[in-house]
Amino acid sequence: MQGRVHAYEGHEPDRVVFAVRALARWGCRTFVLTNAAGGVNPALEPGDLMLLRDHLNLTGRNPLIGPNDDRLGPRFPDMSVAYDRELRDKARAAAHASGIVLREGVYAALSGPSYETPAEIRMLHALGADAVGMSTVPEVIALRHMGARCVALSCITNKGAGLSEGLLSHTEVQEVADRTRASFVGLLTRLVAGC
Ligand code: HPA
Repeated sequence: MQGRVHAYEGHEPDRVVFAVRALARWGCRTFVLTNAAGGVNPALEPGDLMLLRDHLNLTGRNPLIGPNDDRLGPRFPDMSVAYDRELRDKARAAAHASGIVLREGVYAALSGPSYETPAEIRMLHALGADAVGMSTVPEVIALRHMGARCVALSCITNKGAGLSEGLLSHTEVQEVADRTRASFVGLLTRLVAGC
């Protein structure tokens, strides 16, 4: 997919996950998800790539709320290994082969669209998050519900609010994402080839 829809655009959770559900129903069993994220862990720098080890769903929403569609998956799906171990090994190997340093961490999803306050970034760090963003988690929940395997990578586009001098801007986020594009694509290409 080129792009996605986000809840902050006004879409209901089932709309946000519609496309990945369609792909899974058409037979895709392995998903590589990408996003832009702010660094919550002070060690993360703009331009870093981070492999998701786990997530915190702090969106206040869940795409599985409502009557369960038993054709898709069970009522109470397990999330103990949301990000597939074998695929994470493959991502590490792809990064190594591409000469890319791949950081690892926990991604916290918030609804957005406002960026976080410095107090929220400190809270997220205390909760165990390394990065924060406004996507990915609804799709991973819906895909795990369907038994598909997921691996996800964040491009750290900025330090979280309060962790650097400047203010956050979407332009900065886009500029860093654009600068990181070549190495990100290289990593993805190797990863997909190895999946
Ligand atoms: N916060 C939330 N989402 C983001 C950020 C951020 O700092 N950067 C890129 N997406």
